[in-house]
Formats: sequence, structure tokens, C-alpha cells
Amino acid sequence: MAQSLDGRVAIVTGSAGGFGRVITAGLLDAGASVLAADVQTAGLDEPAAASQADGTAGRLSTRQLDISDSKACGDAVAFAQDKFGSVDILINNGAMGMQLFGPHHMTELVKIDEISPETWDKFVSVNLSGAWYLTRAAVPHMKSKGWGRIINVTTSFFTMLRGRFHPYGPAKAGLEAMSAGHAAEFEPDGITVNVVVPGGPSDTPMVPEEAPYARVDLVPTSAMVPPMLWLCSEDANGVTGNRYIAANWDDSVSVADARSASESPAAWPDLAAAPVWPSGRPNE
Ligand SMILES: NC(=O)c1ccc[n+]([C@@H]2O[C@H](COP(=O)([O-])OP(=O)(O)OC[C@H]3O[C@@H](n4cnc5c(N)ncnc54)[C@H](O)[C@@H]3O)[C@@H](O)[C@H]2O)c1
Repeated sequence: MAQSLDGRVAIVTGSAGGFGRVITAGLLDAGASVLAADVQTAGLDEPAAASQADGTAGRLSTRQLDISDSKACGDAVAFAQDKFGSVDILINNGAMGMQLFGPHHMTELVKIDEISPETWDKFVSVNLSGAWYLTRAAVPHMKSKGWGRIINVTTSFFTMLRGRFHPYGPAKAGLEAMSAGHAAEFEPDGITVNVVVPGGPSDTPMVPEEAPYARVDLVPTSAMVPPMLWLCSEDANGVTGNRYIAANWDDSVSVADARSASESPAAWPDLAAAPVWPSGRPNE
């Protein structure tokens, strides 16, 4: 089902992580050039070695990037433009997980007094602001081409609203809301903005081995690739403001059927339908 992405240039954050590595490999396989970025450089060696082995190394560049640093995000976008001549696709995948609080964070939930203001700020800057910094830096180039793809990886609504799953949940809720707003803002420019979530706890380092699940029951890393490749393709021109549950996307059926099982509007537009507003709701 995968479409060719020949000639497209993508930036993938969190490329050293569980999903990021697989998304990077999927984009390379589809023909795109990729700037694979992560705060931890050691984890970028594996994608680089795999790329050497399968002959895609000329289309891969790896870069240390802390997405909570706005200047570094701007520099990374400029680097990708210099290196590959464009930035067409931005996959905001990198994030901090709750494992910062310990390997049993999925069962031993944290209370507000266990979260320092500095930790709160760091989660918000990585899990929300980082995507905004990169979007702001990448959008001018996408606008000049009249084409772009931004895919934000948020999380399940359950996790966003879960008690004692802060700061991760609320920061991801902010990213979900930002995605809906940016979809509306950039639609006239040919830039689509969508959310892809795995659909539940997944088989990545963000879910520690100590978590009370058999790894085989977790969402596999490969699940994220088919909906993302489709969203990056020409077939998905104009498809914006949606959220896709990757675990529900079946790559063996038609795109229409895969979409109907996986797709819904991003965020909570039904709740946004009726604010009390002087002279009625604004049109945009
Ligand atoms: N694993 C799950 O159960 C699950 C569920 C829902 C959503 N997600 C989301 O999937 C995405 C990928 O996570 P994953 O499961 O592969 O986990 P992961 O921990 O393997 O990958 C996350 C990557 O983000 C990187 N990162 C952290 N801080 C960064 C920073 N400041 N700058 C740049 N990169 C940074 C990490 O180094 C890591 O490589 C995340 O957005 C996560 O929130 C994961």
C-alpha cells in the first residue's frame, strides 16, 4: 500500500527511540531523505548502521537535537534544508516518558508533590513546545512549496486525562489541541497536520520491562509506519485535522477501509462546537 516518497525530505524527532527508528526506516524505504534527530546520539548509531547496510545512507543524516531548545530546532530545520534542499515532512515524535519517575511508573503513579516545577517545565517544553518550535521553523519552507506534512505523535485520550499521570498526559493534550489548530491554520497553504497515536501501551523503551504487560500484547513499533506513509503520500493531499489510531490501521485492506477503522477528527471538535460567544461563534 506504501506510496513512493522519492524526492521528499523528512525530519523525524526521537529517531533513536522505539517508534522513531522504525518511522525513520519506513520513510527511507519509501524513498524519502531523512534527518533523524534525537537528544541521545548513541541511539542514532543503529539507524545509521542499518542505512549503510541497505544502501540508503546517502539519504540519511543523523543529528543531536534537544527539541526543548528553540534555537537548536531552527538550526536543525536549516541544516536539513542545506543538506537535502527541502523540508517537506515533519514527524514530531520525540518525547519524554514517565519512566523518568522510575521503572514502575505504570503502576506506581505520581502525586503532585512528587513533581518539581522544573520537571513540569521540562516535560512541557519537550512534549509540547518542541513540536511548536520545529513547526514554526519548518512551515515557511512548506508554504513556499505549497505542500507539507506535519504529523504529531500524541497519546491516547485515556492517558491525557488520567489522574497522577502528569506531566506527560496534559503536555500531550496540549499537542493534540495544537494539531487541530495548526491543521486549520495551514490548510490554505497545502500543509496537512494530523495526529498519529499507537492506540495503547507499546513495545518501546517508554514502557519499561517492569511494566505489568507481556511485551507481545503491546502495540508493535511497526504499527505506526503504514498510516504515516499514507499521510505523507500524494493520496493524502488535503487530508488534515485527523487523528489515526495506528493499531487499528490494517495495511492489508483498502485505504478507505483502513481509514474508517482508524481515523477520527483530531482533538475534541465536538466540544468546541458551541461556546457562548458574543454575536455567535466566530467562523474561524
Ligand atoms: N510507547 C508507548 O506506549 C506510547 C504510547 C503513546 C504514545 N507514545 C508516543 O510515541 C512517541 C515515541 O515514543 P517511544 O514509545 O518510541 O519511546 P522512546 O522513549 O523509545 O522514544 C522517545 C525518544 O524521544 C527522545 N527524546 C526525549 N527527549 C528529547 C528531547 N528533549 N529532544 C529530542 N528527543 C528527545 C528520546 O531520547 C527517545 O529516543 C512519543 O511521542 C510518545 O509519547 C508512546
